[in-house]
Amino acid sequence: MSATDTSEPNRRDFLYVATAMAGAVGAGAVAWPFIDQMRPDASTLAASSIEVDVSSLTPGMSLTVKWRGKPVFIRNRTPEEIKAAQEVPLAELKDPVARNANIAADAQATDIDRTAGKDKENWLVMVGVCTHLGCVPLGQQGDFGGWFCPCHGSHYDTAGRIRKGPAPENLHIPTFQFISDSTIRVG
Ligand code: FES
Repeated sequence: MSATDTSEPNRRDFLYVATAMAGAVGAGAVAWPFIDQMRPDASTLAASSIEVDVSSLTPGMSLTVKWRGKPVFIRNRTPEEIKAAQEVPLAELKDPVARNANIAADAQATDIDRTAGKDKENWLVMVGVCTHLGCVPLGQQGDFGGWFCPCHGSHYDTAGRIRKGPAPENLHIPTFQFISDSTIRVG
């Protein structure tokens, strides 16, 4: 179900979230860099893939790009965030599936399989759309220090896994790859 399918109260909730996001961008210019960039490479189909320079993202920084009309969150996680996600027993996960388009469809939602993988476990790339009804979650908020969707209170952890609230699935991971040390191709 998409956001457009929702009833009037939910639509108001969505407007509230849009307002909250705008506020967060304005207030977080220093503490929370938020860069909205879309850089389709001429050699690729602009609608199907984008290349993103992540060289400016030190640990603890994120950016949001637009891909196929959706926000995609790219975060360079801190060692503390990685450790917190690694220590979660799989049995505690509401959605045990990795939801990672780059690996097997039935892969488990271990921390490493939610990320760019070996030697790049600090990098998290996710479609920024709540798996409940499609709002855009807010970063580094909520009970698990990951993402929080205020539409109906879904809490995601530092690996983008749903931990509490009505969302049924972990935030989805799109197809992506590092094409250089500092460039990610999404799509
Ligand atoms: S859209 Fe309902 S909790 Fe996110």
